[in-house]
Amino acid sequence: MISRRSLLLGAAGFAGAALVGNASGGRAYARPLAPVATPGAEKAVRLDLVAKERSLALPCFDGHDLPLWTFADQGLPPVVRLNLGDRLDTHLVNGLTRPGEHVSIHWHGIRLPNDQDGVPYLVQPPVEPGQSYDYSFVPPDTGTFFFHTHCNTVEQLGRGLAGILIIDGDAPEPYDDDQLVVMRDWRLDEARTGFLPFLTLEGAGRAGTFGTVRSVNGITNPLVEVPAVADVRLRVINVDATRISEIGFEGAEAAVVAIDGLACPPFPLRSWKMGPAMRADVVIRTPADGGTVTLFDYFAAKPVPLARFVAKGAPRRQGDFDPAPLAAARIPMPDIDGAGRLTMTFSATATGASVAAATGDDGLPLGPLCLSAASLWSINKSSWPGQGMDQLPPPLLQLQRGRSYRMQLKNLTPQMHPIHIHGHSWTVIGSNKRVLPPHHADTVLLLPKETLDVAFVADNPGRWMLHCHIIEHQETGMMGWYEVS
Ligand code: C2O
Ligand code: CU
Repeated sequence: MISRRSLLLGAAGFAGAALVGNASGGRAYARPLAPVATPGAEKAVRLDLVAKERSLALPCFDGHDLPLWTFADQGLPPVVRLNLGDRLDTHLVNGLTRPGEHVSIHWHGIRLPNDQDGVPYLVQPPVEPGQSYDYSFVPPDTGTFFFHTHCNTVEQLGRGLAGILIIDGDAPEPYDDDQLVVMRDWRLDEARTGFLPFLTLEGAGRAGTFGTVRSVNGITNPLVEVPAVADVRLRVINVDATRISEIGFEGAEAAVVAIDGLACPPFPLRSWKMGPAMRADVVIRTPADGGTVTLFDYFAAKPVPLARFVAKGAPRRQGDFDPAPLAAARIPMPDIDGAGRLTMTFSATATGASVAAATGDDGLPLGPLCLSAASLWSINKSSWPGQGMDQLPPPLLQLQRGRSYRMQLKNLTPQMHPIHIHGHSWTVIGSNKRVLPPHHADTVLLLPKETLDVAFVADNPGRWMLHCHIIEHQETGMMGWYEVS
């Protein structure tokens, strides 16, 4: 089922390995990963965040102010940049006024100590309106990450509560430019004057409820200036609660150099499916002065342009495109042969349509309260009880600290699920449906009926979540936790 070749790539580890050929079928690039980056001296970086309602008119809102919920006055989302070795000291204030609207911050993909992971009830108390909470940790990995609330996520993320976290130090050979490409939709009514319900039973039981207005960096199909004939690093981040995009470029050669923040041997990008929370660092070789590169979403029948990059100025590079690799990830390679074997199944307990029919759906969108009884999804046959985090079910798994585990992630449903593991990153070994390039990931996309084979070293003790990152699936049952001790 899983090819021997892909198994070997996973088993041997790919840090420093120059691959001959590559999994995506295109040509391979010549250069191996750079050695693991060394952290600088620990320096404190102070971050003050106040989660509250701020009325803002993003360019994609057609001039209307919308009551967004954001973490900061400046920048949507705010961008936090550190160097490897820096300590991030965050003071979070909950300035939301709706009674009971508690918040927290989950630092998605950061392998941090368990008590900093931002999951209410599991590892910290919920931060109620008017309260504050402090986080402090040294991120162990370089790369492209983000953070978001882990409370009433479908609405809080839907209204904007997220930020970007970049840890620098992974590019021993600098690229000519470095750009953020933050993809997300907004669920706005037709006049763009207000939000539509963030959760619908119809959506929750299928692929999720989609936004109506698409954006990159707050703009629909923006035009971004980049240097000409240059190697430009694009940090593509899917911050959407629902939509899976399949990214690809026209007008430039493109290579993926990191997935979910962690370096992978560069491979040519034809298209790459990115579910919610997934990141890809892509290097493109831009055209000559005046030329344009377009980022498309090829997921739909008709490709949707997401952003355009227009090249300006004198050429910066000569010769063939051979993107500089990043520094290898600092994560331990699992011992595949000695690993404990686990299977996780992802299944549907009912479809949104059948639940809606059973409850006499009147065609109006249902609010979250109507759904509190609905468990639509499960992991290993158990659904998270209720929509909040306050009822803790038994753990899905109890893992031994320091041991390697190999997991089969089996999607038994006809929907796709971006499955996220807290506290660790997986090494992706293979799939029963497609050939995947060697990479690590904290969020893997399971195609319909796909089984993914992943492995990791359970080296981070604590209680960690494992859930689908289509937030409506997460909030209607496809969520669980595991313990490492
Ligand atoms: Cu980005 Cu538990 O999530
Ligand atoms: Cu899902």
